Amino acid sequence: MKTSELRKRFLDYFAAQGHRLVSSSAVIGPADDPTVMWTNAGMVQFKDVFVGKERRDYTRAATSQKCLRAGGKHNDLDNVGFTARHHTFFEMLGNFSFGDYFKADAIRYAWEFITGPASQGNLGLDRSRLWVTVFEGAEGIPADTEAEQLWIQAGVPADRILRFGKKDNFWQMGDTGPCGPCSEIHYYRPKDVSGNRPELVNGDGDDTMEIWNLVFMQYEQDGKGGLKPLPKPSIDTGMGLERVASILQGVESNYEIDLFAPIFEAIWKVARIKPEERREHTNRTASQVIADHIRAATFMIYDGVVPSNEGRGYVLRKITRRALRFGKKLGIEGLFFADLVPAVLQAMGDAYPELGSELPRIQKVLAREEAQFSVTLNAGLRQLEACDISSGALCGTDIFKLYDTFGFPVDLVEDWCRERGLKADLEGFQTELAEQKAKSRAAMKAHDVRIQGDYAVLADLPATQFVGYQTLEAQATVLALFDLNHKRVKELTGEGSVLLDTTPFYATSGGQTGDTGTLSFETGSAKVLETTAPAPKRSLHRVNCSGRLKEGDAVLAQVNEERRARIRAHHTATHLLHAALREVLGTHVKQAGSVVDADRLRFDFNHFAPLEPAQTLEIERMVSEQTLRAIPTKSQSMPIEDALALGAMALFGEKYGEEVRVVSVPGFSQELCGGTHVANTGEIGCVKIVSEGAVAAGVRRIEAVAGMAALERLQEDEALIHHLSRQANAGRENLESLLPAKDARIAALEKELKEAKLKAASDTSETVEEIKGLTLVTAQVEGLEASALRELMDQARTRHQSAVIALASKVAEDKVALLVSVAPDLAGKADAGALLKAMAPHIDGRGGGKKDLAQGGGTRPEGLEAAFAALRGAL
Ligand code: ALA
Repeated sequence: MKTSELRKRFLDYFAAQGHRLVSSSAVIGPADDPTVMWTNAGMVQFKDVFVGKERRDYTRAATSQKCLRAGGKHNDLDNVGFTARHHTFFEMLGNFSFGDYFKADAIRYAWEFITGPASQGNLGLDRSRLWVTVFEGAEGIPADTEAEQLWIQAGVPADRILRFGKKDNFWQMGDTGPCGPCSEIHYYRPKDVSGNRPELVNGDGDDTMEIWNLVFMQYEQDGKGGLKPLPKPSIDTGMGLERVASILQGVESNYEIDLFAPIFEAIWKVARIKPEERREHTNRTASQVIADHIRAATFMIYDGVVPSNEGRGYVLRKITRRALRFGKKLGIEGLFFADLVPAVLQAMGDAYPELGSELPRIQKVLAREEAQFSVTLNAGLRQLEACDISSGALCGTDIFKLYDTFGFPVDLVEDWCRERGLKADLEGFQTELAEQKAKSRAAMKAHDVRIQGDYAVLADLPATQFVGYQTLEAQATVLALFDLNHKRVKELTGEGSVLLDTTPFYATSGGQTGDTGTLSFETGSAKVLETTAPAPKRSLHRVNCSGRLKEGDAVLAQVNEERRARIRAHHTATHLLHAALREVLGTHVKQAGSVVDADRLRFDFNHFAPLEPAQTLEIERMVSEQTLRAIPTKSQSMPIEDALALGAMALFGEKYGEEVRVVSVPGFSQELCGGTHVANTGEIGCVKIVSEGAVAAGVRRIEAVAGMAALERLQEDEALIHHLSRQANAGRENLESLLPAKDARIAALEKELKEAKLKAASDTSETVEEIKGLTLVTAQVEGLEASALRELMDQARTRHQSAVIALASKVAEDKVALLVSVAPDLAGKADAGALLKAMAPHIDGRGGGKKDLAQGGGTRPEGLEAAFAALRGAL
């Protein structure tokens, strides 16, 4: 059975059981959740639904989810390539119940789907090869005897049910989030069934492997080791698509399934590995590593990750480098990794057609990283050559430094040492590494606290209803007050924060800055300085109160209308720019960050080259066309699936609820967006790009102004032009040619001046004397720079063919230039460099040169007499 058929059967089966089919979310974790780096399981996109923070209009769902396990919890990186079943990137089939069905149905469905007849859309797996595990109980959580009974009822023989502890049968997403005991289904693969034994379950080998995990979500982790019961027991399951496909296709390893075939073909081709060499251990594992990593890298970059030295970018860098290293083991010379991306499309394009249009961008990102890594390798090698190895060993500190600052792989260091008969102090390296890890763990914790910190209580308070799309003014009730230290208080005077039940104030999010305005209440009023949402749907108004505001008070909340209008114009202008950029530069342009406020907009996007001036003009023109046509905009709420089907642009890393808002300028732009927008593009007036530049490799930033801010900018520009033309006493039309003309005039004058000075200097009388049989010519002039002094010297040399000539120029009050020349026929009798050295100290100067010509300078013109005296003495 093809992998695509397996994916389809799974989704069809659960759709028939009333599950909503939801599309895969990005491989990067949700933007608003710093605890999740990657989507490491199907449940990640439903995390808030499990813990009751978010509600959807369905209680059963099924997905085929793109997952990544590399870094953080559930990290399989080191196993990848060496086992038949581990990947960094894989797809997880999952069915989910949010407080709907629980253990009994989850177990019944799973068993029916995998063992039911293949002719009826199930998988028809051989029951005699299957094992089931349940939680044996630990740390106050009882053994799952209920699951045991349910498996027996489903038809599993009691001797095929095994108990395991927390490590294997208790699943948690991370240090926080939903979790619970689980039950796994394992499969014995070898053709010969005689070796099928219970000890192989959860063992090291590949013979028996877990294929499906059913998590009975019952608790939420608080991050401090405590568990609190979930509002409703739920179900989260995960079945490895590649693993099950390998069983259905009768192959020994995940890497042999149809999904990987084009990728291996491409690898073997670049590595020139013949069919008979492919099963050899190094060839096999190295190609597996590369095949896995190219899939992961492709999907990471698709979702907007770029290689960097921290966070997700670092993981991408790490797996790319790991792949390149294994490429070396395959004997691949030169760059190859980026060239494998089309094979990923060939393998996975059916399920992920959106990859197609992104291919060039993904390849560019990888090609650059690859090229950069060869530079790293060379830099590392140079560093390595310079290390102290006199003791016969390379110390741990050096290895760590190479690894940490140059990104130089430790196994290459080991190879290098081995070749030279040196010992590599890996223990020392591990010690340094552990120290660094401890430091970064501590830093990470501090980060979490800051995010959840003082306002943690907000999550337990009712949500704020946002009415700011329809109105800028609303009656509301104070739900809670906080002082400047974020402590909850009953009353507030002066500065603090206010949580309201209803608000027209937009809280900063999605790049749009929050509203300001006023809250009026019976005994006074409060200026709203800022609005933010430290917890989802809880809008905090930071205020300065005159009067005493109390919990429960009724307030009239009024948004600063003019400021909101300016923000609105910038936000819709951002959407127009995004659409125009994609139109002009290509659909690879993806938003990489944005800031929308009252005075400007900033938009970061993935692109490789600076904008050409003509492109900037074209973008501005396209955007203005939309504003001048005064098009009514639309915003509509709809299920996310519908929005994506409409082709609305969704931002990667952004977390969307089930119901999303689609903001469109019909015929031009359509984006998922929660921000506030103009009702008609005519309100934007003008949009002007004011700067464009790079912010990171492959990421460009433009800044632009719209609406009133654009007018203000144009007024400033106009004032500047006016000012310049007044100063230059020239009309606006002449300004452009004015500066070059002035520059040319200045250059001509400088030339004239130099000539005049030279002329004056040539007229200065020189002194000619005889000292120790040598002719010495000296002259002291004013105002000549060193270069003019050289010209003067040329003239003197023609007049005095056999002489020592010393010229000094007082360039300024504190600047002297010196030049000494010795005629060719006096070589051996006098040395210009030595003579200059004798003079220099007297003018606090320095200089030097050859035996025939030396030049120098100093800062003390008063010392010139003494300098010449020294010259005479030195002859
Ligand atoms: N979330 C569970 C897992 O990843 C199903 O194994």
